[in-house]
Amino acid sequence: MNRIATPSPVPSPLSNTEIELRLLMEAIYLKYSYDFRNYTLASQKRRVLHALAQLGLPSISALQEKVLRDPGLFGRLLQYLTIPVSEMFRDPAYFLALRQHVVPILHTYPSVKVWVAGCSTGEEVFSLAILLREEGLLSRTQIYATDINPDSLEKARQGIFPIESIRGYTANYQRAGGRSSFSDYYTAAYEAARFDPSLCADVIFADHSLATDSVFAETQLVSCRNVLIYFNRELQDRALGLFHESLCHRGFLGLGAKESIDFSSYSERFDAHAKPERIYRKAT
Ligand SMILES: C[S@@+](CC[C@H](N)C(=O)[O-])C[C@H]1O[C@@H](n2cnc3c(N)ncnc32)[C@H](O)[C@@H]1O
Repeated sequence: MNRIATPSPVPSPLSNTEIELRLLMEAIYLKYSYDFRNYTLASQKRRVLHALAQLGLPSISALQEKVLRDPGLFGRLLQYLTIPVSEMFRDPAYFLALRQHVVPILHTYPSVKVWVAGCSTGEEVFSLAILLREEGLLSRTQIYATDINPDSLEKARQGIFPIESIRGYTANYQRAGGRSSFSDYYTAAYEAARFDPSLCADVIFADHSLATDSVFAETQLVSCRNVLIYFNRELQDRALGLFHESLCHRGFLGLGAKESIDFSSYSERFDAHAKPERIYRKAT
């Protein structure tokens, strides 16, 4: 009788950490519908190892086991996975370029819609609102500010930022072409600066995922900064597809200083408008 040879196990090209990370992201998706499966491995690994250290857990598998049974722990993990880091007028050259090269064209529209995707704790939204008010556009602009982190969205709605950040934000504002005194926009109290609520009175803050949700409005400007950097190519393409679909004919897309559309499937579908500042314009 012929013997059928037992195949020798083929070693997986993935490390144990990579396997555990994939299983964790799959578990989070199945249990909570948050889709981190297409974030770069490097960013997943950095964030999860940091979370393990902070939460005092021995392994990614142990984290997965607990996260599946404890929604509160998932809420804490979400703070590590989403990187809620921002600042006002971050990369001032970007805001200066918006002022000089985009605002004059936005003025030609009777009303304007702006989508700030991945708005985090709101610093980018307040910066844009200040810029648009100074340029006489805020009163006819609707801003949609979206993110997947509900805690960040709540902070964004409040518009209260740490007082120790204000010196840096003031310098950024001036370098971004600010036309006023930055202190006109906030009231300082104790440890915090509360920004003028009228700046964001008409902003719609909403939960929206670039990984799982679809387009909800036609916009003239999409600002999505320091978000795509955490996505792999497939998810970057998905997000760029949403922006392309949302933008009106010849609408504008602003990305972060380390982000570009150059190697995406959308590279031919946007023109560079202010390339060093990562501002593009819908081509087709
Ligand atoms: C580093 S912050 C960038 C904040 C701000 N745009 C800036 O440049 O200062 C990245 C933000 O992207 C959000 N984010 C991550 N994945 C997302 C997704 N799939 N859809 C929407 N927002 C996402 C995070 O919650 C986080 O608030």
